[in-house]
Amino acid sequence: MTKLKVRYEPTKKQSAFHACPADEVLYGGAAGGGKSTALVMDALSYALTYPKSRIILFRRTYPELEETLIQKALEFYPEGIGRYIETKRRYEFLNGSVILFRYLEHRNDVLRYQGAEFDYTGFDELTHFDEFQFQYMKSRLRSTKGYPKYIRCTANPDPKNPTKNKWVKEYFIDFAPPMVIKKDGEGRTRCFIPATVYDNPYLLEKDPGYVKRLESLPELERQALLLGNWNLQREGLVYDEFSERHVKEIDITEGTWHLFGGLDFGATNPTALVCVATNGELFYVFDEIYTPDISLDALAYEVLRRKLTTVYADPSAKGLIRELQLKGIGVEKADNEVLPGIFHVKRLLANNRLFINPRCKHTLEEFSLYVWEEGKDKPVKAFDHAMDALRYALYTFQKKAVWDSGGVR
Ligand SMILES: Nc1ncnc2c1ncn2[C@@H]1O[C@H](COP(=O)(O)OP(=O)(O)O)[C@@H](O)[C@H]1O
Ligand SMILES: [Mg+2]
Repeated sequence: MTKLKVRYEPTKKQSAFHACPADEVLYGGAAGGGKSTALVMDALSYALTYPKSRIILFRRTYPELEETLIQKALEFYPEGIGRYIETKRRYEFLNGSVILFRYLEHRNDVLRYQGAEFDYTGFDELTHFDEFQFQYMKSRLRSTKGYPKYIRCTANPDPKNPTKNKWVKEYFIDFAPPMVIKKDGEGRTRCFIPATVYDNPYLLEKDPGYVKRLESLPELERQALLLGNWNLQREGLVYDEFSERHVKEIDITEGTWHLFGGLDFGATNPTALVCVATNGELFYVFDEIYTPDISLDALAYEVLRRKLTTVYADPSAKGLIRELQLKGIGVEKADNEVLPGIFHVKRLLANNRLFINPRCKHTLEEFSLYVWEEGKDKPVKAFDHAMDALRYALYTFQKKAVWDSGGVR
């Protein structure tokens, strides 16, 4: 038998991942630790070990799938074992095994696999998926050939997406200490293998500036991407009632909606404009502007383009408000009573009356980063730009009771 030539020599951590006998493994942590490569190679090793096995590898979106998993397979799979069929996005091996490369962009995309069966399922960047998608695919693991039914995942902790970060953390990281294989209630075993960027000498050699770039990230991202720290849940969140249920798309072309906004000016800090629609009952943040150094003309244009009737702005910026007014924009001083404003927003969240469009990334991010000053009844002045703008909009709107007075109908 001729020996296969494989260009891949696993690092120590990658070897541990390949050798781990648990049914479900998460190889998690820093960006650049060699996780995607390891996943693709692990699937290869399974395909070759178990003839006629069916393997499926997921990434959330199609472009990412192409750029990472498929690209790594083409780069690292040796010749003479099978071939990649591009039109079907599958690798077919001479021993009858297949690896499907797939994406799951929307939550219900998993339903395509109803009735399908796999021996091995891999998720690259598990924090990009819903727990529902993971559990659904887990239920599709059904080897009729007596092979081990494996789930293999990779992930970075994701500070920008606390909800998805949370389920992955609970499922794998909080379940057992790192490297410890533990049984779940159904007798399946699970293990978490942590990785840091320092585990991957290939990357450090190829791109020595990479670690420096990670080191200069904001604190939470640095902790997550450089060190693979999963404990990113901030203590003392101001809006602790905020959760994934508040993130959704609402069609505001149906029915009667009144559009207004909240504005926080920044010079070196970003200027934040949140665009709110209300039908009197619900408040929906349908868009945001979040950028440093935006000109007043550009800002005025954004307000007009979104047809915001009134924008409630940081009352201390009298000059800027005046200038916007001179440009014909309906800008008014916001009510800046911090605590009542915060409590008003909290009440809307608790009563499921406030929703955020998923494209409002900065607003969503600040919801998970905006915290109280320890021992004090005021928030820390950080990650507060969209939060201030939102409070200006919602609290001032309600104080003016524009809706109830019939002024907008
Ligand atoms: N064992 C290996 N041999 C050679 N190159 C590797 C190996 N593992 C990772 N790499 C390279 O290191 C870089 C980062 O790896 P990747 O798998 O993309 O990391 P991650 O998914 O953790 O961000 C890629 O360029 C990849 O090709
Ligand atoms: Mg990767």
